[in-house]
Amino acid sequence: MMNVIWRNCICCLRQRKVPSRCQSGYHPVAPLGSRILTDPARVFEHNMWDHMQWSKEEEEEARKKVEENSAVQVILEKQVKYESEASKYWDTFYKIHKNKFFKNRNWLLREFPEILPIDQKIEENVEELSWDHVKTNAADCFSGKQEQKKHLKKNGLSDGQSQLRSDFSNLEAEEARKELQKTEVFPGSNATFRILEVGCGAGSSVFPILNTLQNLPESFLYCCDFASRAVELVKAHSSYRASQCSAFVHDICEDGLPYPFPDGILDVVLLVFVLSSIHPDRMQGVVSRLSKLLKPGGMLLFRDYGRYDKTQLRFKKGHCLSENFYVRGDGTRAYFFTKGEVHHMFHKAGLYEKQNLVDHRLQVNRKKQVKMHRVWVQGKFQKPLKWTQNFSNL
Ligand SMILES: C[S@@+](CC[C@H](N)C(=O)[O-])C[C@H]1O[C@@H](n2cnc3c(N)ncnc32)[C@H](O)[C@@H]1O
Repeated sequence: MMNVIWRNCICCLRQRKVPSRCQSGYHPVAPLGSRILTDPARVFEHNMWDHMQWSKEEEEEARKKVEENSAVQVILEKQVKYESEASKYWDTFYKIHKNKFFKNRNWLLREFPEILPIDQKIEENVEELSWDHVKTNAADCFSGKQEQKKHLKKNGLSDGQSQLRSDFSNLEAEEARKELQKTEVFPGSNATFRILEVGCGAGSSVFPILNTLQNLPESFLYCCDFASRAVELVKAHSSYRASQCSAFVHDICEDGLPYPFPDGILDVVLLVFVLSSIHPDRMQGVVSRLSKLLKPGGMLLFRDYGRYDKTQLRFKKGHCLSENFYVRGDGTRAYFFTKGEVHHMFHKAGLYEKQNLVDHRLQVNRKKQVKMHRVWVQGKFQKPLKWTQNFSNL
């Protein structure tokens, strides 16, 4: 009986869309939540206000602060060290903070109900994309019709049917290879629903997810981080269950490193506050690699820092590595995204945008009577049912 109730609850959560928010494209963002500040005099009555609109003056002030704190860039020699020793800096971070720094991401299932499996996949309304649809969406990354035409032509898409036929025969061979791989035994090979969290840290998302999955034995959670101390913390946690979770050390920038499971088998990839710590030149490679791990129809769920978030504005001069990319005092790094950049990167990786929004909030320190703008970017990107390698080159 309990199991039935539990499953019904999960189905409700799973099917709940987030209709009040901007789902994709460049449309204005609809209200983010219920707490809207209508009377500025009441600002110190709550800790957080949703859906804050910035005034022109606030935006200009933020732009100036960023201009100031980016005026001097860190010398190349140090930049190389931050890149080549990135995992060491994060490892030291976990040596110091253990699992005390990041709070459990309890909002995760509310924002990303896709993390949960549903019994009837048919209800999932997975987009079966036609090539026209795919091409149109790819072209959306670029402004202006001329540029779209040039880009499609460069990638051979204007050759139409003959190109498509060869893409699909390649796809058949690829699918056959994947089917073979799927018969292999690997951790989670018996599961029917598989999630991977990359850059899992000490498990702030892992454990809320695992707690929810405990009544769903057909589900399996993989999680990885390149900081071995973080992975040790996850494995040592009292809620870690090897029967339903596999934590492993993995650097997502190392394209050639194998994952402990075949490509094309994941239902969900979770990328939460991780891409921002990666060098901008390597981000596209990471996203494209992760996209290959998804099965057709699988979802990549993303949340990270947005441009002009208070943490960007607080950096002092001397911490800037390159435009909108900074290094903290402990050697870890942070990039601040725009919605357009996120859109471009995920489309280039062959994924279809289901949601891409900027979450603007006003955080209030009531004791100190201080107001801070928080900005996050959140997106949901789906692998089309008909996916080809060629599309990933777009
Ligand atoms: C800001 S923390 C976020 C941790 C966790 N996702 C969360 O939301 O609490 C970023 C994490 O990404 C990991 N990370 C950064 N670059 C990575 C890479 N190239 N490969 C794997 N993990 C990486 C770091 O070790 C760190 O645990």
